[in-house]
Amino acid sequence: MDSLVSSGECAVRSAHVDDLDRLSVIDAACFPQGIAYPREYLRRLLCSPTSVTRVASIAAVIVGFAIIEVRARGLKVVGELVTIDVLAEVRHQGVGRLLHASVERAVRHRGGHKIRLQVSVENTAAIQFYEQLGYRTRGRIPRYYLNTIDAWWMEKCWKEPKNL
Ligand SMILES: CC(C)(COP(=O)(O)OP(=O)(O)OC[C@H]1O[C@@H](n2cnc3c(N)ncnc32)[C@H](O)[C@@H]1OP(=O)(O)O)[C@@H](O)C(=O)NCCC(=O)NCCS
Repeated sequence: MDSLVSSGECAVRSAHVDDLDRLSVIDAACFPQGIAYPREYLRRLLCSPTSVTRVASIAAVIVGFAIIEVRARGLKVVGELVTIDVLAEVRHQGVGRLLHASVERAVRHRGGHKIRLQVSVENTAAIQFYEQLGYRTRGRIPRYYLNTIDAWWMEKCWKEPKNL
C-alpha cells in the first residue's frame, strides 16, 4: 500500500516555538490526562538548546512530532527520547518511523551512539514500534507513570563513531 511517506506527502522539519499550541493539542490527543505533557513543559523543551524537536506535516498541517534530548554523559553523547506522537488518523503510514529517523540522525550528528527511552508496559503499539526500530528492553521501572503504571526502559545502540 502506498503510504503517506513513500508518496512524499509527509514532510519533516525542525520545530519552532510557534508550533507549541499544535504540539500541545497533539500530545493531549495521544496520551491520557496526567501522562500528556503540560504545555509549559513542552515550551521548555522547544526552547532548550539540548533538545531537538521535529514535526511531521501533511499539506502544511502538523500531524506528529518527536522530541529528543541530547546530553553529554561523561565523554559520551546519549539521546533521551522524550516522546513521539502521531495523530491516530495518520498512524501506520510511516510517519512515526520518519520522525524517529530524523531525531536519530540528530543524535548521530552530535557524535552520539545510543538512544534511551521509557515506555508504559501497557503501550503495546509503541513497544512494537520501538522494537521494530532496533530498541531492546533493558529493565522495568516500577510505578513510573502516575505512580501506578510500570515502564520499560529501552535502548538502541550503534557502533561508536571513531576518533572521539
Ligand atoms: C507509536 C507511534 C508513534 C507509531 O507511529 P506510526 O506513525 O503509526 O508508526 P509507523 O507507521 O512509522 O510504524 C513503523 C513500524 O512500527 C510498528 N508499529 C507501529 N504501530 C504499531 C502497532 N499499533 N502495532 C504493532 N506494530 C506497530 C510496525 O512494525 C511498523 O512497521 P510496518 O508499518 O512496516 O508494519 C503511534 O502509534 C503513536 O503516536 N502512539 C501514541 C503516542 C505514543 O504512545 N508514543 C510513544 C511514546 S513512548
